Amino acid sequence: MGAGSLPRILVLHGPNLNMLGQREPQIYGHTTLADINAMLVSRGQESGVAVETFQSNHEGELVSKIQAARGQYAALIINGGAYTHTSIAILDALLAIDMPVIEVHLSNLHKREEFRHHSYIARAAVGQICGFGADSYLLGLQAAIGIIRK
Ligand code: DQA
Repeated sequence: MGAGSLPRILVLHGPNLNMLGQREPQIYGHTTLADINAMLVSRGQESGVAVETFQSNHEGELVSKIQAARGQYAALIINGGAYTHTSIAILDALLAIDMPVIEVHLSNLHKREEFRHHSYIARAAVGQICGFGADSYLLGLQAAIGIIRK
């Protein structure tokens, strides 16, 4: 079956996630973003979904990507990075697209500084997965596939 006929899932990565592997490895691990994206695409292929990924350090670019996703994807997985804790614009965009959203984070936000405990994205999400390192994304993908198949 060609990728054209498969349900599509968009994975968005917010600011500084392009630095994974080099950035605070004691918190975020040694896996690079390229490794994570490759894992997601390959797990998607095994599960019969087409995974696409996008990273940006710019809030407006993420908002535009979310808007453009409307009607194009069956589900959206997002690690908003620091925008998770600050961006009402990203929250509003997620609320506007009428699509299941799964929030993921590598680190356990609730074990960290107080300012990371609050997530604007959580208000738009079916659920949040955090604290499992790169596996948070795979768990997020599993959750998205479960929702699509329901
Ligand atoms: C993060 C947690 C955020 O607080 C932080 O700003 C990040 C990464 C995570 O994946 O653990 O950039 O979203």
